[in-house]
Amino acid sequence: PPHPLVAASILSADFGRMEQECRDVLDKGADLLHLDVMDGHFVPNLTMGVDMCRALRKHFPHTYLDVHLMVEHPAHFVEMFAEAGASLFAFHAEVARPHRRHDGVKAEALIERIHKLGMQAGMVINPATPADALEPWLEELDLVLVMSVNPGRSGQRFIPDVLEKARWLRERLGPHQRLEMDGGLNGKTSQQAVAAGVDVLVTASALFGAEDRKSVIDTLHAAGDV
Ligand code: DX5
Ligand code: ZN
Repeated sequence: PPHPLVAASILSADFGRMEQECRDVLDKGADLLHLDVMDGHFVPNLTMGVDMCRALRKHFPHTYLDVHLMVEHPAHFVEMFAEAGASLFAFHAEVARPHRRHDGVKAEALIERIHKLGMQAGMVINPATPADALEPWLEELDLVLVMSVNPGRSGQRFIPDVLEKARWLRERLGPHQRLEMDGGLNGKTSQQAVAAGVDVLVTASALFGAEDRKSVIDTLHAAGDV
């Protein structure tokens, strides 16, 4: 398979030195930055929001900013993230209808708004959510993100059961649609992910916690070579 992209999840970066941290991993070969937005409701944690996106866009005008929204009401934030320079707006299937009935996000309309605002659109599934939950929207999406840990924090263990869902999705996605995996990825689990059809590898703790970040990025880029 072709080399996967490496998405650096800044959740494990030193927040007091965010610009240098991002510059460091981008210089060492990371392809894009992954921003984990949490609202304290969809997941019991708070992380970063629109202002972080805007600040990174200012310092990194040409970098792809992948915004992963672990929030109950993603539709509230579309315009804000577009204005703040997000490249991709990815929201969870678990907050969309028909899963979440009356108060659920109308995913079709949301995807359309994301595109109208010039962003790419992604949808995300938790480890417990079946892949076919995405079926109604699959064709409209630029990217599908399969969570390989339960969202909420960095540094958790990879859940191998999700590989089957990645294979199922890869079979149904076109060549220009990306398949991303997020959570617990390291050299070994990334090989399994890429073999299952994943082409964007998100990494937080394994990258920012490493002594030699360049070699981590090189290893992930080579995850399909074996
Ligand atoms: C988890 C986030 C991930 C997280 C990954 O809720 O969506 O992006 O930062 O962290 P690692 O790579 O440490 O599992
Ligand atoms: Zn994420």
